Amino acid sequence: MPRTKTDNPKIDTRLKCAFSESIDSSDVAVRIGVIGCGYWGPNLIRNFQELPQAKIAAVSDLRDERLKSLARRYASIQCTTRYEDILRDPAIDAVVIVTPISSHYPIAKRALLAGKDVLIEKPLAATVKEGMALVRLARRCRKILMVGHTFEYNPSVLKVAELLRSGELGKPYYIDSVRVNLGLYQSDGLNVVWDLAPHDISIILHWLGQMPRAVSAWGQSFVRKRIADVAFLRLEFPGNVLAHLHVSWLHPTKIRRITLVADKKMVIFDELENAEKLKIADKGAHIDPASREIRVGYRVGDIVSPRVDTTEPLYQECQHFVDCILQHKTPRTDGENGVRVVRILEAADKSIKRGGSRILI
Ligand SMILES: NC(=O)c1ccc[n+]([C@@H]2O[C@H](COP(=O)([O-])OP(=O)(O)OC[C@H]3O[C@@H](n4cnc5c(N)ncnc54)[C@H](O)[C@@H]3O)[C@@H](O)[C@H]2O)c1
Repeated sequence: MPRTKTDNPKIDTRLKCAFSESIDSSDVAVRIGVIGCGYWGPNLIRNFQELPQAKIAAVSDLRDERLKSLARRYASIQCTTRYEDILRDPAIDAVVIVTPISSHYPIAKRALLAGKDVLIEKPLAATVKEGMALVRLARRCRKILMVGHTFEYNPSVLKVAELLRSGELGKPYYIDSVRVNLGLYQSDGLNVVWDLAPHDISIILHWLGQMPRAVSAWGQSFVRKRIADVAFLRLEFPGNVLAHLHVSWLHPTKIRRITLVADKKMVIFDELENAEKLKIADKGAHIDPASREIRVGYRVGDIVSPRVDTTEPLYQECQHFVDCILQHKTPRTDGENGVRVVRILEAADKSIKRGGSRILI
């Protein structure tokens, strides 16, 4: 979406927020408008429609054919090609933004100013500056700003965080994530890092509970000019913890796997496994204290797959957004959480442009 002068984050402070009435939790439902119904939008619509305390009142997309297809499935939903119609509608309490990344900021800004609570699909914005401006604006308008980091609602991811916090896994050494397949090339001019890495970055930050000290990244453009379709990121965390991410739109197989190696146990989270997505391996290597030489001893114990809730993570995310609106709570994945991820994406982008140089965070 082309930028207009009024989309500049610098001028936010001069704008006035509209105040919509807060919702009584005894009300029928939170009335939601969804902006953007391409590939991902319909998944959010389906999940919100299943929630007893939410109702999709309207959807907007620039493409008529997308609206027609939705209207066939959901007869009661209002459709419009102008998202401003949704923002103007006082009967709509909240909006969900599922448009290309570069349009997140201008649409979210207008939505907050119109007095709506806002859920933005990942990543929060295309720059840290835009993300910070949204955080400030949401605070000033006293509106919910949440980012759709779906994996922070994934029961397997939450289970690993719980095992790390309880000490069962020990001290993390390193994390290795692979998120690759053939396509879908995005059309908004941003590289594969912006499309695929937000997931892994949000998981890693959630597990480690801290920001990296430095980010380096290497990327290459093979199919399109100047838009990397393959990238490798290195995140250096305090305490010598390392994370490595491989993201690609140009790979023969689909892989969605994160491995965490800690000094007591190792974890494999494979999103594409049907039954045992999460495996905890009692494996490790250590210097044998009894040996005079520096000899490495190995532990090769059981591999267990803990039972985790099978509710769709996107359903949990939608439920959380509605709960936050009804109970006036700060979302777990609030705007600041979103900015942390964007900060790393921005650093990785800069590093790719500088041939892999180390960017301090
Ligand atoms: N959480 C996840 O797992 C996940 C998965 C896929 C995509 N996403 C995110 O969802 C967002 C959308 O991705 P997508 O793959 O659905 O993209 P897409 O290109 O398939 O769909 C985007 C839609 O937004 C519409 N649009 C653009 N500008 C608009 C405007 N001003 N008003 C109304 N409609 C507008 C387009 O016409 C298009 O139909 C991105 O932020 C992406 O990162 C998240």
